[in-house]
Amino acid sequence: MRSAVVPPWFVVKSLFALLRGLDRLRNTLTPPPLRLMELVGGYGATQIVRSAAELGLADLLAAGPKTIAELAAGCGADEDALARLIRPLCSLGICRKSASRGAFALGPLGEYLRSDHPETFRATAIAAGREQYDGMAGLTASIRRGGATFPERQGSDFFSCLAQREESGRHFADSMAEISRACLPAVLAEYDFSTIRHLVDVAGGTGALLNGILARYPQMAGTLFEQPSIVARVESSPGQSARCRCVAGDMFDAVPAGGDAYLLQRVLHDWDDEGALRILANCRRVMPSNGRLLLLELGMGGDDEQFVRFHADLLMLSLFGGRERTDDEFRDLLDRAGFTLHCVIETRSPLRIYEAFPSRWGTE
Ligand SMILES: C[S@@+](CC[C@H](N)C(=O)[O-])C[C@H]1O[C@@H](n2cnc3c(N)ncnc32)[C@H](O)[C@@H]1O
Repeated sequence: MRSAVVPPWFVVKSLFALLRGLDRLRNTLTPPPLRLMELVGGYGATQIVRSAAELGLADLLAAGPKTIAELAAGCGADEDALARLIRPLCSLGICRKSASRGAFALGPLGEYLRSDHPETFRATAIAAGREQYDGMAGLTASIRRGGATFPERQGSDFFSCLAQREESGRHFADSMAEISRACLPAVLAEYDFSTIRHLVDVAGGTGALLNGILARYPQMAGTLFEQPSIVARVESSPGQSARCRCVAGDMFDAVPAGGDAYLLQRVLHDWDDEGALRILANCRRVMPSNGRLLLLELGMGGDDEQFVRFHADLLMLSLFGGRERTDDEFRDLLDRAGFTLHCVIETRSPLRIYEAFPSRWGTE
């Protein structure tokens, strides 16, 4: 299996320019009604890939090609219906027809739906098609209102909902870890964490990012701070570094003291300014005056018009009333919480790193 490498900047920039050009070309060449049909059918791809992941087709095909009958028996599916699912999976590159007659094999994308692949995206494929999918279905109402609609659609806020639904909660947490692992090499390539002695990862999920950083920096200690339901699951898991302690709590009440650096990855985008300010104020309260705050966020604005940012921004609106922020919005937010934004670092992933320090006039 391929190990994660960070391609040179010129390769990344050229590739994205080429893909943007190809997108424009496709929009120009495809008759508008056909292009619109492709776009509005996007939900189909989400659910088709989710089904493949939930049925565990990639795991069944990992050992080699199988017929529909063998696959249906392996995942407990109706043969005719499964044959109809395999067709679009072949056209999407998840599966492919095998050389042996009537059998199917894994396509290049399907490898990443194997649960044992080191860069698996299986949980992400499932999580995207569940609560997040329903959250996006409330988008029109969220645009009208300018706030979240998920709580009234599902009866509770997003994180309470995941805490009540064991399977969905696990898929979401695993999805966050998968995305963290995918972005980690790009983050490590751009940021020097070597002067940090104790890093506190606030709302750090299952600790994929923190453990990845600790593995690179053997002198560093870490604290993973999360909701009790997540901590209960991860604190005894084999993936946790011996240098990482897990602390359960509510970041709106307080965050653990003791760090010289505090990190929040994809946390502030879940919250409106009021929520984000409360979290930042709690970090500021326990940070030494020479401490450091690192925000890893998708961000918004700049030359980079990646659809992923616009999509995430609207997903955050529908689910939480949150938002992806521009550099100026981060600067303003940080300023109000007693921090000064020092720099914004692009990475060869969708994440940007916002480095900030306590302001001299901030609350001590
Ligand atoms: C979008 S996820 C990001 C997780 C992780 N930082 C990452 O990038 O993979 C947001 C995280 O916030 C955590 N969270 C939500 N509310 C929280 C609270 N009140 N206190 C602590 N953590 C919370 C969730 O459990 C979830 O893991």
